[in-house]
Amino acid sequence: MNIFIAGGTGAIGRYLVPLLVAAGHKVVALSRSVDSGSPLASMGALPVFGDVYDQAQLARLVAESEAELVIQQLTAFGTKTGNPYAETMRVRIEGTRSLIAAARAAGVRRFIAQSISFVCSPLGTGLTDEETPLYLDAPSPIRAFVESVASLEQQTIDAKGMSGTVLRYGWLYGPGTSWDPSGFIPRAIREGTYPIVGSGAGTYSFISLRDAAAATVSVLAHDAAGIYNIVDDSPVRLSGWLPFAARLLGAPPPEYEDVASARERIGDIRVYYMNEQRGASNAKAKREFNWRPALASWQAGFEALYLNRTPQSRDAV
Ligand SMILES: NC(=O)c1ccc[n+]([C@@H]2O[C@H](COP(=O)([O-])OP(=O)(O)OC[C@H]3O[C@@H](n4cnc5c(N)ncnc54)[C@H](OP(=O)(O)O)[C@@H]3O)[C@@H](O)[C@H]2O)c1
Repeated sequence: MNIFIAGGTGAIGRYLVPLLVAAGHKVVALSRSVDSGSPLASMGALPVFGDVYDQAQLARLVAESEAELVIQQLTAFGTKTGNPYAETMRVRIEGTRSLIAAARAAGVRRFIAQSISFVCSPLGTGLTDEETPLYLDAPSPIRAFVESVASLEQQTIDAKGMSGTVLRYGWLYGPGTSWDPSGFIPRAIREGTYPIVGSGAGTYSFISLRDAAAATVSVLAHDAAGIYNIVDDSPVRLSGWLPFAARLLGAPPPEYEDVASARERIGDIRVYYMNEQRGASNAKAKREFNWRPALASWQAGFEALYLNRTPQSRDAV
C-alpha cells in the first residue's frame, strides 16, 4: 500500500516507519526540515519536506505520493514558550483538518490518527473503554486540551469518503519519550521533584513505543476502523510505578505532596493524571484486530529501559 505519514520522525514514527516498510508498504514521510527528516531515508521511506499548516503544499505532496492511506502521527509538546500544550492542541485540530483535506482532495480512502487513552472522564470506576466519554466537562485548563483530542477523533471518524481509525495510545515509554532515561521524568525522579500527588490514585496505562507502532500494522492487516485503546495489560497507580521506577533509577523514594500544593506547582492537568485518571482497557483492539502488546507489563519495559535489560516479552522489542 502507498502510505503518506506526517510525524514519521517523532518518537513513535521512528518505530512505525521501519515496521511499515518491513510489512511491504511504500512510505512517503513528511518533515519540516532536512535536519529532522534525514533519518527517514535510512528507515526506507521517501522523505518530503513541508509544514502541515501549509495547505496548498501539503495537498500537492499527498497527491504526488499517490497515497492510499494517510497517517496523522503528529505532536508538538513544549515547542513554544508559555502553554506547553498549545502547539499540540493546534496540530491536533488544524493539522488533522489540513491532512484530511489533503487526503480527500487526493482521493485517499483511509486515514489513521494518533490519539491518547488518558483523557476520559474520571467519573465511574474501573478501566475506561472506547465508550467512556472524554473528560469534556473538566475544569477549563484541562477541558481545552481534551477538546483538541475530541476534535482530532471526531474529524477522523467523520471524514467523508474515508474509513477512519483512531489509536488511543496509553502513556508511551521508550527512547525519546518523557520516560527516556535522560528524559524529563527520570531526571525529576532523581532530583526528588516527582512526588506522589494526593494518594497517587491516578491509574496509568502504559505502552512501549514498539507496541504502539505495531498496532498500526495490525490495523492495516485487519482493515480495522473506529476508535481503539492501545495500552498494555497492566494498568498501575502512580503510587505503584513511581517507587518502582525510583528504585530502578537508584533514586530516593518519592515524597508525597498534597493536591492543593501540587495544583499550584505543576497545574491541574498533571494533578488529574497523577491522582484522578482511570486506566484504559485494551479488550477491543485484542478482540477486533487481534493486537497483543509484546510487553504485556510496563515493569519489564521499565527494567529494559533503565537497566539495559533484554525484556521478557512475547516478541523482541
Ligand atoms: N501517548 C503519549 O504518551 C504521548 C503521545 C504523543 C507524544 N508523547 C510524548 O511527547 C513527546 C514528543 O513526542 P513525539 O515524538 O510525538 O514528538 P516529536 O518528537 O516532537 O515529533 C513530532 C512529530 O510531529 C512532526 N510535526 C510537528 N509539527 C509539525 C508541523 N507543523 N508540520 C509537519 N510536521 C510536524 C515532527 O516532524 P519534524 O520535526 O520532522 O518536522 C515530528 O515528526 C515524547 O516525550 C512523547 O513520548 C506522548
